[in-house]
Amino acid sequence: MANRLKDDLVTAGQYGREPQRTVSSYSQLDPDKGVTRPTGTEANKKIRDFCVKSMVAAGLTVKIDRIGNIYGRKEGSKVSDGIVMCGSHLDSVVNGGQFDGALGVFSSIEAVRRLTEEHFENERPIEVVVFTGEEGSAFGFSLLGSAVLAGKIETDDALMQKNINGQKLKDALEAIGYLGDFEKQLNTVDCFIETHVEQGPVLYNENISIGVVENIVGYAWVTVTITGESNHAGTTPMKMRKDALVAAAEIVTAVNRNANDFADTQGSGLVGTIGKLVVFPNGINIVPGKVELCIDIRDGFEKNLLMMRKKICTFMKELESRCGVIVDIQMSPINTPAHLSPDVVQAIEGSTKQFGLSLKRMNSGAGHDAQNMATKVKTGMIFVPSVKGISHAPLEWTTWDDIENGVAVLTQTIKTLSKLDRN
Ligand code: GLV
Ligand code: MN
Ligand code: MN
Repeated sequence: MANRLKDDLVTAGQYGREPQRTVSSYSQLDPDKGVTRPTGTEANKKIRDFCVKSMVAAGLTVKIDRIGNIYGRKEGSKVSDGIVMCGSHLDSVVNGGQFDGALGVFSSIEAVRRLTEEHFENERPIEVVVFTGEEGSAFGFSLLGSAVLAGKIETDDALMQKNINGQKLKDALEAIGYLGDFEKQLNTVDCFIETHVEQGPVLYNENISIGVVENIVGYAWVTVTITGESNHAGTTPMKMRKDALVAAAEIVTAVNRNANDFADTQGSGLVGTIGKLVVFPNGINIVPGKVELCIDIRDGFEKNLLMMRKKICTFMKELESRCGVIVDIQMSPINTPAHLSPDVVQAIEGSTKQFGLSLKRMNSGAGHDAQNMATKVKTGMIFVPSVKGISHAPLEWTTWDDIENGVAVLTQTIKTLSKLDRN
């Protein structure tokens, strides 16, 4: 592959790694230390700065909007609207992999460089986008930047979201220099393509080069605070306790059991996870007085999400009298399942066939900004294999050959979609 893209991804992958170091092969990965660059952190600033520098070097005109989304634009030769947009995100989960999000951003910049070198005449403008806060690892909501762009959340409401330190998104973006004033209008965009690592085992296990995504799963997040009473672990009789962690344990089990039962009986792909749980005060000889936890429920059908969320919420409320605790429930807006554009799917498929690569049409079990974009513009996704199906973990990896296949398909797809008379 062109070393350029590899160099970009390796450079970008050092930001948020402690200690900071570059990783260019699977064998260099540390199973305990991935990348951590939630929105507004120093690492998030560093990778954004590097990205903007790369965009400018690639000849793109850079603008930042009010939610910190970055746009790098290459003018079209015939029209100034009907943009072909491509990109992804640069924030990460806590201890994640270096390609989740960054791959889609730097592949898009590389695609533009290739078009320019080939003197390819893109009739429509091309814009590379970096969405703010895709992961929801800092500011509660996931897919934040694309939700604002798609009009699902008001910009001012999103800017008021707070991180774990009580800092508002607005202040966090200002602190890292990414609180812009550009007002991007989505009606100037014709289509969106997101290139991403699959984050699951399908392509890797079946030895397939390219996944062409048809649907993206929907998901619901519920943030729960259980308040009991902290007390002495030795002196408080069992019957007199208000143990918040005992209630939390019941919730963990209920989510897992209900998701399993639903999958078994309905044949659905519903999944339910509690991956975040904070115990207060977290002392060996103290009855836990408070627990905060987050529930993640996913399914391809919104009605299943709503049904399962309701069931779990009813269960949690019943715990109040049984466990002597107060259960406060905050629901984030549902990220609805998305059906991607048959036109863009076809364009991606056509590009893949042109290179003689194996492909599979598939669904995404991970959430992506593409699902918000799909509510307003024709949208498609290109997946490349994840080694052993690992993601959101330090051992996430994709081979350089697979990355080259992805960028080749992306570049050709942009060529196809940037023509005015393509239909
Ligand atoms: C985003 O990566 C998600 O699927 O949670
Ligand atoms: Mn992710
Ligand atoms: Mn991602």
